[in-house]
Amino acid sequence: MLILAFDTTSEAGGVGVFRDHECLAQIANDGPANCYSVSLFSMVDRAFAEARARHGVPERGLADMQLIAVTSGPGSFTGIRIGLAAALGWAKAFDLPVRAVSVLKALVDAARIQTEWAVPILDARRGEIFVGIVQKATQTRDGCHEPPLQKEHGWILRPAELAPFLSRRLPQGAGTTCVVREHDRTALALRETLSSAFQWQAVAGTLVEAVARLGLQDYRTGKPQPAGSLDAYYIRRPDAKLPTSNTNRNSELEFQAAMHIRKAQEDDLEAIMRIQGKAPKAAQWTVADYANLISDPLGLVLIAELASTSPPTLAGFAAFHYVMDEAELRNMAVDPAHQRQGVGRELVAEGRRRLLELAVRRIFLEVRASNSVAQRLYFSAGFRLRSRRRDYYRDPPEDALILALELTPAREASAPNRNP
Ligand SMILES: CC(C)(COP(=O)(O)OP(=O)(O)OC[C@H]1O[C@@H](n2cnc3c(N)ncnc32)[C@H](O)[C@@H]1OP(=O)(O)O)[C@@H](O)C(=O)NCCC(=O)NCCS
Repeated sequence: MLILAFDTTSEAGGVGVFRDHECLAQIANDGPANCYSVSLFSMVDRAFAEARARHGVPERGLADMQLIAVTSGPGSFTGIRIGLAAALGWAKAFDLPVRAVSVLKALVDAARIQTEWAVPILDARRGEIFVGIVQKATQTRDGCHEPPLQKEHGWILRPAELAPFLSRRLPQGAGTTCVVREHDRTALALRETLSSAFQWQAVAGTLVEAVARLGLQDYRTGKPQPAGSLDAYYIRRPDAKLPTSNTNRNSELEFQAAMHIRKAQEDDLEAIMRIQGKAPKAAQWTVADYANLISDPLGLVLIAELASTSPPTLAGFAAFHYVMDEAELRNMAVDPAHQRQGVGRELVAEGRRRLLELAVRRIFLEVRASNSVAQRLYFSAGFRLRSRRRDYYRDPPEDALILALELTPAREASAPNRNP
């Protein structure tokens, strides 16, 4: 399959022509990132000419291509717009399939990392950085598939936020490689701010080969992607935006900034029951069950509330119980109105932090085999499958998965407590 791949998201972009995984020609950009409106077209011409001279294809340029793979960001606004607009135009004119590839994912692919986790980092300018988190898919011993966490569209952070952010997001003790571009001094300098437990890898040259590889892989294994559905990962809010715009990918960070996690009190029981009522997949407890756990010296019921409303709104809760160095996450739920905004993850992270201070070294939990949403949260928080209990649940009958999270003091100690 003949592929035209290009990256216009930074000055280190370029164009390549590939026959499956074989590179027929590659041209690196040698100008600034805001000149792709001219240079992209001349680079494509030069790449075709070079491939034709060395390999005899493509005879008819774009008309012979069979796939377009293009980076969709994050990166320069202008570069992303030019790249996607060109890809869409050519896809339409020559009736070609097109695949958009995240720069963060391409960076990780180019680095061919050995660790389970990768953290691609890019300079976002204006004193900020783009950060992604990518986990390799793993197969557990009894065949259950642990889903990878693919936050390839990433977050935008200030450099000082990186260390606490990774402490909250990555499982403790996880093998992690930070992947940066060789020319990206801002990203390289972050090495000083992280512990030596992180490995580092700098990728040289363009990402075009990785873009072609990922585009082809996605085309062969993924769902059909109509050209019109291509989306840009701008991440950063445009400088000028309508006040009502809600398309901002940073909303999760803003939401988390307004979130406060504290221990539940008797006064919170009504709100907890209200959330439980909206979450049929949570264990259905009575008020007395929660009240007992709140007053139990070995109980820890945490609630997440939004400080931006008056009175604060309860967004979710997590109920733990511990004995000696082992704890159990017995129940949790997030209000459907606030799901998928990081509340569940922060509740688990805060529980982990507090339990560690109480000398707990392992947290167990049970989850219905069909509850894939909760499992994704738990696996991404570092829980691992321990065993499966056949027909453990009733109404409806179902297997339970037993998951466990090992807590390691050294790594946890570096995580700041944002919810005293
Ligand atoms: C499970 C639950 C607590 C997750 O809470 P949440 O605040 O929505 O979760 P978060 O926003 O913190 O998401 C953390 C991760 O979980 C996974 N996840 C959460 N919701 C998901 C969904 N709808 N689909 C796929 N994955 C999802 C993702 O991996 C997510 O990370 P990402 O956003 O970076 O991709 C919530 O869905 C819930 O209340 N479910 C009903 C009750 C329940 O099942 N309780 C667990 C009983 S064991």
